[in-house]
Amino acid sequence: MKIKSIKGVKDILPGEIEKWQWVESVAQRLFSLYGFKEIRLPIFEYTDLFKRSIGDTTDIVEKEMYTFKDKGDNDITLRPEGTASVVRSYIEHNMHGQNPLTKLYYFGPMFRYERPQAGRLRQFYQIGVEAMGSSSPAIDAEVMTLLIEFFKELGLQELELQINSLGCKECRPQYRETLKLAIANHLKELCINCTQRYERNPLRVLDCKVERDVEIAKGLPKFKDHLCSQCQQDFAEVQKHLDAVNTSYRVNDRIVRGLDYYNKTTFEVIAKTGLGSQNAVCGGGRYDSLVEDFEGPPTPCFGFALGMERLISILPEEKLNHLEKSPDLYLVCLGEEAHNLAFQITHQLRTVGLYVEREIDGGSMKSQMRKANKLAARFALIVGDNEILNRRYVLKNMDGGDQWEIPADQLAEEVLSRLKPTD
Ligand code: HAM
Repeated sequence: MKIKSIKGVKDILPGEIEKWQWVESVAQRLFSLYGFKEIRLPIFEYTDLFKRSIGDTTDIVEKEMYTFKDKGDNDITLRPEGTASVVRSYIEHNMHGQNPLTKLYYFGPMFRYERPQAGRLRQFYQIGVEAMGSSSPAIDAEVMTLLIEFFKELGLQELELQINSLGCKECRPQYRETLKLAIANHLKELCINCTQRYERNPLRVLDCKVERDVEIAKGLPKFKDHLCSQCQQDFAEVQKHLDAVNTSYRVNDRIVRGLDYYNKTTFEVIAKTGLGSQNAVCGGGRYDSLVEDFEGPPTPCFGFALGMERLISILPEEKLNHLEKSPDLYLVCLGEEAHNLAFQITHQLRTVGLYVEREIDGGSMKSQMRKANKLAARFALIVGDNEILNRRYVLKNMDGGDQWEIPADQLAEEVLSRLKPTD
């Protein structure tokens, strides 16, 4: 039987990978302008890390983790997200002692045992950003603005930043009780999921996608009417900062997020078209007590993670045309002697930074030129018996047909002078 890849897990092939590399390079450049540094984290951690951070009653921990015992009988989990690992690493490496505001970003695969569908995978990739060490609402606005600027550079326009405040230790417990009381009146009408999670996690009823529940949720008490004065003030500040740099957003009081560690500002970026039901490209927010929960010092944090597959699938076509690189030069070899020299010639040209291709098994002049055309090579270098005898090769411009004879011992310099390597 042929072995296939696992359900919900995808290969990223050449032709597709160029988009990923481009997105990652834009992220690297832009994030570093805002002072963020890359961190590479392990793919697996002790299970407890995720249970205690994401929360025992969340869908991720209850149903979706890839958990196993290793040969040393340790409980291990393939990471379902990156924030928990960043927090673990931040404490383990004493980062708070080195810098009061630590700004990190990461790329990498995450694993969740969800029901696969378009935009929902079991191994998917995230780019994440975490700013650790400030409770200032200015950080919330700065990090969300960085994200929006990133989307702009990628040419993404049909996106909406939706923000909410989930309150703090002071005001959330009271709101939770008020909400529970209100939900109790609708228990018979809600979906089975909501009736089950209402006791332990009533906030999730607010973002249930079932149509009837959406209608019920509209009539439930709103968090914004129950925030304490500090939370109200902070949320107003966040909006003031966003307005100051024209970062547009919409307040959506149904955003509660599916991970337990959030407080105060939370947000999602929603694609208005192109993604169907899995339309959240990015999610994040403030998590002010997570570092302390893991015995670190008080460290208020704000961050986000975006889903690469969802992002890649809505990149605009016009931004993608330039991504596949064409060869600078295609080496056309005619005759045995030329073929014997081909490896040396291509090696010499590649060592000066040129992208060179050739047909390893030879072929007629016509078929080799056809290949050069197909690959959209900018130049062809023609080497045959005569050229070797005269120690002069023929360089042909594939766009327009100009050609020159080039001395063999000055090949690299001569080619370079006529040809700037592609970017
Ligand atoms: P999250 O909302 O669970 O947040 O995931 C962030 C993004 O990852 C989602 O908006 C979505 O684009 C993508 N994503 C999630 N699950 C899947 C899946 N099964 N298949 C494809 N894409 C998926 C977090 O993970 C938090 N750690 C974000 C964060 C960082 N908050 C603070 N800092």
